[in-house]
Amino acid sequence: MNKIIFIFVSLLVFGSSSAAENDVANKRGENLHNTHCMACHNNSIYTRKKRIIKTKLQLVQQIKGCDHQLSKNFNKQETKDLIDYLNRNFYKFK
Ligand code: HEC
Repeated sequence: MNKIIFIFVSLLVFGSSSAAENDVANKRGENLHNTHCMACHNNSIYTRKKRIIKTKLQLVQQIKGCDHQLSKNFNKQETKDLIDYLNRNFYKFK
């Protein structure tokens, strides 16, 4: 019985911690985005009818291109957070 409770509790803890981690990453991406990316365009560009991004690879390249214009040189983690944020909230590529 104790064993079952233990398994149940660890599933609960580990399951929710990874979901929470995703939320934290998503929040980091959102903060980065709202601080740096709204100077030239707002969110609506990601959902406009004729949006140019059709694949996840294009999304990665576009973010690197826009980063280049900003001269921010986002590190790997920041770039990943931005990609995840945009993909999770707007593009939804698999
Ligand atoms: C210096 C101005 C500028 C900044 C700052 C900028 N962008 Fe852009 N971005 C553009 C322009 C201009 C386009 C539209 C290109 C087009 O329509 O061909 C664009 C397009 C995009 C697109 C493609 C939208 C679509 O059609 O699907 C994405 C994604 C994007 N930007 C992400 C970002 C992110 C993330 C940041 C912050 C790191 C950022 N941009 C900051 C100028 C900028």
